[in-house]
Amino acid sequence: MARSALARTALPVEPAHPEATAFATDAIAGLTTTPKRLPPKYFYDVTGSELFERITTLPEYYPTRCELGILREHAADIAALIPQAAALIEFGSGASVKTRIVLGAAKSLAAYVPVDISRDFLERQALALRKQYPGVAMLPVAADFSKPFDLPVTIEGMPRVGFFPGSTIGNLEPHEACTFMRQAGETLGAGALFIVGVDLVKDQRVLQKAYNDKQGVTAKFNLNLLTRLNRELGANFNVSAFEHHALYNREKSRIEMHLASTKRQKVRLCGETADFRAGETIHTENSYKYSIESFGAMARGSGWTPVEVWTDADKCFSVNVLKRA
Ligand code: TRP
Repeated sequence: MARSALARTALPVEPAHPEATAFATDAIAGLTTTPKRLPPKYFYDVTGSELFERITTLPEYYPTRCELGILREHAADIAALIPQAAALIEFGSGASVKTRIVLGAAKSLAAYVPVDISRDFLERQALALRKQYPGVAMLPVAADFSKPFDLPVTIEGMPRVGFFPGSTIGNLEPHEACTFMRQAGETLGAGALFIVGVDLVKDQRVLQKAYNDKQGVTAKFNLNLLTRLNRELGANFNVSAFEHHALYNREKSRIEMHLASTKRQKVRLCGETADFRAGETIHTENSYKYSIESFGAMARGSGWTPVEVWTDADKCFSVNVLKRA
């Protein structure tokens, strides 16, 4: 495969914000290597977050619907497993529809600790939740949940229950998933429970459809990354000369999302030039699919014991309850 060079043609522009600097550094690094890639965390600007919310409601995108169904069906079972006056800690709390199912069922919960990078989003969420669940201490933590972080001192001595829905575990490389599970165990402490939503291996056609919806929302979500590079880093991507590709890699049990260049072209960003061959792709995200067994093995290997697993009738999705070994 030809190595496509990023030729330095001028000094990179100096962005005003540290986040913009990180974005520029990551973008340049990712578009300099072969194969090209961009970190998925940059999907989530305001437009990206809105598009993602739309993805979760698409007819083809079964994971959210299946997981909500499982959580609703087993809300009482979940509540029965949660010890009295426990703290619920959510890793990467989005728009907490799933959390509300747990909060609504487990009446004895003493605290809820949503962990998310976006402080603004967290505060807004916490405000609404305080009104709705006045008996539960809402203790948001602004942190990157993929790295070790400190829990609020207020929950010291409380039994802990981790919550990690959405099959976000599948967006990590398997070795990263292991590290994450181990770290989460250390953060949550001895005797903790961990509720993890995991998407399951299934018919390829169902998987491919879920990431190639008819309305093209997932395509928009993927392509928004280029719009963002244009707007925030002054890149000149011709967005209409790139296509959304999502394919199932059976050998690796993962959906791969790419942005494919429809022609040979040059793109400028931060004073550098990225050369694209016709058909060359930028790898933007993976979504690993597990079997109940492979997830259980991974959990055991990272210090957890599976205690319960629920699926929907079609075995599309799983909700796993683990206990720290
Ligand atoms: N974790 C979910 C999944 O892999 C949601 C998700 C993350 C997603 N990034 C995505 C869905 C990109 C569609 C496209 O399915």
